[in-house]
This record gives sequence, C-alpha cells and structure tokens, in this order.
Amino acid sequence: MPKLEIEGLRVTLGKTPILQGVSTSFEEGEIVVLLGPSGCGKTTLLRSIAGLEHPTSGRIVIDGVTVYDSPRGIDLPSERRNLGLVFQSYALWPHKTVFENVAYALRLRRMSEAQIRTGVDEVLAGIGLDGMAGRYPHQLSGGQQQRVALARSMAYSPPVLLLDEPLSNLDAKLREDARIWIRSLIKSRGLSAIFVTHDQVEAMAIADRIVLMDAGQIAQSGSPEELYGQPASLFAAEFMGANNHLRTIIADSGLGEIVLAFGDQSLKARGARAEEPSASTGVAVIRVEAVGSGPPASDDNVVQASLETAVYLGGKWEAVYVCGGQRLRAFSAQRPQEGCHALHIPRDAVWFFPDPSQPSQPSHPSTR
Ligand SMILES: Nc1ncnc2c1ncn2[C@@H]1O[C@H](COP(=O)(O)OP(=O)(O)OP(=O)(O)O)[C@@H](O)[C@H]1O
Ligand SMILES: [Mg+2]
Repeated sequence: MPKLEIEGLRVTLGKTPILQGVSTSFEEGEIVVLLGPSGCGKTTLLRSIAGLEHPTSGRIVIDGVTVYDSPRGIDLPSERRNLGLVFQSYALWPHKTVFENVAYALRLRRMSEAQIRTGVDEVLAGIGLDGMAGRYPHQLSGGQQQRVALARSMAYSPPVLLLDEPLSNLDAKLREDARIWIRSLIKSRGLSAIFVTHDQVEAMAIADRIVLMDAGQIAQSGSPEELYGQPASLFAAEFMGANNHLRTIIADSGLGEIVLAFGDQSLKARGARAEEPSASTGVAVIRVEAVGSGPPASDDNVVQASLETAVYLGGKWEAVYVCGGQRLRAFSAQRPQEGCHALHIPRDAVWFFPDPSQPSQPSHPSTR
C-alpha cells in the first residue's frame, strides 16, 4: 500500500488555477523531493497534503486513510492528519528550552514523562544537539535552531514528514552539511518524507525520487539518475544540470538516428524525424560535462570550435567556445588554449527536442 496517494488534485487560489490535476503516489520509507521553479505550486501541493489548503477536486489518501475526497465530501482538518511539518519560516517557542520545544508534540500525544525524555534525547542525539537540551533558542545559531525545528517535527515519528525549503535560512556551507544529515536522520528513523526545494543539486542529494513540477503539473517523476540522465522534455532537460542549448534543424535522418545542423557544424543524435514539418527545427541540449571529456569513442560527434573565453572554477576550467555560430561550453582540467579545437561529443549525450507545433513553448526555470 502506498504511504500517500494523490489523485487528480486541483487547487484554485482566488480565481487562479494553481494545481491542475496532480496525481502521484509515495511509498513507505521514501524521501520524495518536490522540485520546480518558483511559483510552480510546490508549497500549494504540500499545504494541500497537510490540510492547510482546500482543493477544488481530487483525492488524498495518507496511510490508507482518505483525508480528502471531493465527491465524498471528505476534508479532514490539519490536526487529524497527524503529519510532521517544517516550513521555511519555522518558529521555535522563544520562552521554551530546546528540550521543551521538541517535547511539545509528545506531550500533546499524552506520553509519559519517561517516554518523552527518551524520545527527545534520542532525536536530539540524532541531530548532534544532545548537549544543548537546556538552552533557549536565542542561545543557538541559525543552523542549530533549524535542527531543533526538524527535531520537533520528527520527534513523534509522524507517518509523513512535510518539509518546505527547510534549509533556505542556512548559509551555503551549512546547507551542504544539512543535506547529508537530514537524509540520514530521516532514513535512520524509517520515516517517509516530502521535501520541497527549487535547488536541483539539493534535490538530487536528498531524494530517493524527484517529482519535477512545472506550472501546476507534474513534468516528470523518477530517481535523481533518471531525471538527470533521461529527461522527458526540454523543460526537464534544462531544469537539471548545466547545459548547452543549440538551435538546430534536422538535416537528415536514418535508422533511429538524426543529423542536426547548426551553422557549418552538424551533430548526430538518437531519434526519428517527426511527421510534422514544424518539428524539423528544435533545440539540442547537451550537458556541459558531456562535451570533450574522457577518451573519445569512434562514433562520437566531432565539432570545430574556437575558444572565446575561459573561467577558472577551482579544480577545473570552464571554456566558452563559438561553434557553428553559437556558444558551446565545456569543462577541462587544464586551462584551454587559444584558437581552434576539435571537440568530441558522444551521440547519446545530444538530446533533441523539436519545437512544439502548438504555439505554447515549454516554460523555462527562472532559478538555477
Ligand atoms: N493566496 C493566494 N492567492 C492567489 N494566488 C496564490 C496564493 N498563494 C499562492 N498563489 C500563487 O500560486 C502559485 C504557486 O504558489 P506556490 O507558493 O505553491 O509556489 P512554489 O512552487 O512553492 O514557489 P516558491 O519556490 O517560490 O516557494 C504562485 O503563482 C503564487 O503566486
Ligand atoms: Mg514555496
């Protein structure tokens, strides 16, 4: 039985449709990351699961209990859904100690003093705050306060933990550490969690599965490796990773292979020529790390490119070339030389997305 099932969920805020028929399900023990650009509806979906938003239609089942079902008129209030919540603007009780902040949810559940002490001690030890139970929030750093907020949400082992950008108040270094301990803490307690972020690197580090959202709909769902390595659309390809984006036309097509032309250069890619003539132009997306790295294979594409500039990224260089009249970026271990270069690109690393025949273009992420 899935831990959480969502079917055809629609949410309208004011007069604007925000979620437009979202269906997905999460398994027990999974960490699912909701990823997508700002405004795509991640928080709205999380709040709907928590019972803080009232959908217009659809169904939500948590642990086998239907908490929302529009045709049957079921809409359980938030407190009866028993979920652990951490929002971006978490608030600790300033006049309560760390211990009492974390113990609060256990007291609500009428546990004995002995059970509360064991439960709080265990979760504080799990997040490395065991010596700080007696402190007040103002005696903690921002990162430590964030840990207490997380400890509070998971102290009573909720069936599903809902985390909305819980790391956004932390600086970059603390965030990197936090990804690792949050994942191990959730896993060690055997919890299921939905974690919202608009940061693709954070998503890949934390998720068992990523649900990528675009404009109130699910664009793609799969393991981090699937989303990164087999994007289903131009939107998904461009949202993940650092990318080259080349405007191309299909110059030729053979068995399962197309030849893409741009300026005086061409690239082979997997694919078939589409039926509609409008689909003979489109975008080739190539991950920056796929250009010119590793030993060349015999069936690789080779393109001629002249160096425009290079920047040092620490440990590697990023070169910007001009290739067929467009920009092509590549990483290299050494500072790239001025002049012309023959760059090889594996055929499987070239993903072609035809221009949609409909006038509406896929939307593009606003944040990287
Ligand atoms: N109360 C409201 N009334 C009308 N529109 C709203 C309301 N709350 C949110 N919205 C709109 O709903 C859309 C989705 O908002 P939501 O907060 O779910 O996005 P998000 O994916 O969490 O974005 P972010 O990454 O910026 O947090 C946005 O376009 C937002 O402007
Ligand atoms: Mg949000």
